[in-house]
Amino acid sequence: MTLDRLTTPYAAALAEQGGEASIRLNVPGHNAVVNSESELLGYVGETTLLRDFTPLLSGLDKGDDSPLRQAEQAAAEAWGARRVWFLTGGASQGNRIAAITLAAFREPETPVIVQRSAHSSFIDGIVLAGLRPRFLDPSIDTELGIAHGIAVGRLGASLAAGPAKGVYIISPSYFGAVADVAGLAAASHAAGVPLVVDAAWGAHFGFDASVPDQPLRSGADIVVSSTHKLGGSLTQSAMVMLGDGPFSDELEPLIDRAVAITQTTSANSLLLASLDIARYELQTKGWRIADAVRSADGLRSALRADPRFGVASDAFDRFDDIVGVDPMRVSIDVRRAGLNGNIVRERLQTESGIYVEIATHSCIVLMYGPGHTVDPDPILRELHRIGDDSPQQASGIPRMPPPSAPLVVRPRDAFFGASEVVAIGDAVGRVSADALAAYPPGIPNILPGERFTAEVVDFLRATAGAGGGYVRGALDPSMGTVRVLAGDI
Ligand SMILES: Cc1ncc(COP(=O)(O)O)c(C=O)c1O
Repeated sequence: MTLDRLTTPYAAALAEQGGEASIRLNVPGHNAVVNSESELLGYVGETTLLRDFTPLLSGLDKGDDSPLRQAEQAAAEAWGARRVWFLTGGASQGNRIAAITLAAFREPETPVIVQRSAHSSFIDGIVLAGLRPRFLDPSIDTELGIAHGIAVGRLGASLAAGPAKGVYIISPSYFGAVADVAGLAAASHAAGVPLVVDAAWGAHFGFDASVPDQPLRSGADIVVSSTHKLGGSLTQSAMVMLGDGPFSDELEPLIDRAVAITQTTSANSLLLASLDIARYELQTKGWRIADAVRSADGLRSALRADPRFGVASDAFDRFDDIVGVDPMRVSIDVRRAGLNGNIVRERLQTESGIYVEIATHSCIVLMYGPGHTVDPDPILRELHRIGDDSPQQASGIPRMPPPSAPLVVRPRDAFFGASEVVAIGDAVGRVSADALAAYPPGIPNILPGERFTAEVVDFLRATAGAGGGYVRGALDPSMGTVRVLAGDI
């Protein structure tokens, strides 16, 4: 074992403390009892029980120089941050922290420019914090049916169009499209406001020359990172990072408060330790990223040579908001094979045990974590088998998300306002009280405060009615009814 107090301060301290003889009469109530009557022991193993400690303990996380603070400091150095906070509520918590921080930054009523394709957790943050968003639609690939990012020129125009106190964008996207963060940061800073980047999908960025640089090094002020996605830590563990830029002094105490009101008071020690270890591995074993990229490259080459399949991200250079693509994911275009990505994803899992991250009607996206190398042959074989036995499949899930609907009420006021439930057929023209998001990818199609359009209603209905379709936030899973603001608005 190479982990010690110098390499991984918190993970090593936790392992030591869990290994010491002790009588545990505190929570968690399993008390790390290691005897044969414990079903939990049999299920998760002795090491897990012994290292599952409650917070606020000397030697682990109590005090300004605790191993946990040291681990966060090591992470800050690794990502080039002024400060990093470890989170146990995913990047979803990070997004709520970002929204609360932006709300507390400067005048409460000044809008924040927000990429409209923000993950639903940031929309939840807008509601919680009472933020006033000014949405900016991302570019849309109408052929593949996916949203990309915001070009620097469009952000500049929006900044010039009216007062704003911050900017929130996503990079990389679910599909691996990387925005010009340096350009967006420069435009934001020139307008005197900070740039927040949801880099949930880019925790591994900057740790090997084969992947793009990470957004803090390009000038982002706050970065939300879902370390568990492609950074190698346990599910739910994440980080929020503060850069060393022109607004850091103002932002730091605001983030600190936002972390305090969103973090559980029982942060899981194993999740925290996994962040410490993931950081160490990213920092010292960049070759694992290079290995995964080589493996993904192998699959991409085979797909490019295949008459039936293609690489969806090969077409990304048509978009001026995209300056790079994350090579740790392979987006497979299945249209030439007459297939539907949603169905291919389902069949790969249930028939072949191949788990794929995302699908749209046009493609599926495979994610390679650091160190993961995969033989491309079984994947191609299964794709061809599915193509041979059922081409021209239609999943019923609509192809293109509808254009965004007009925002007429502040999201928080709509969420908490007097509402009523109406049949979806009567919703056109009414103001939504909920955020409703077709999954995947979980980008809300209507927000609290937006007025339902016929296109949004048709899209949500069709998604809920299709096999494999699911609308997050729906009052009624079949989308027969929706919650709207009461009265004439
Ligand atoms: C862009 C983006 N941000 C944030 C999140 C939330 O991340 P987590 O699942 O870690 O809470 C997701 C989840 O898929 C996401 O796609």
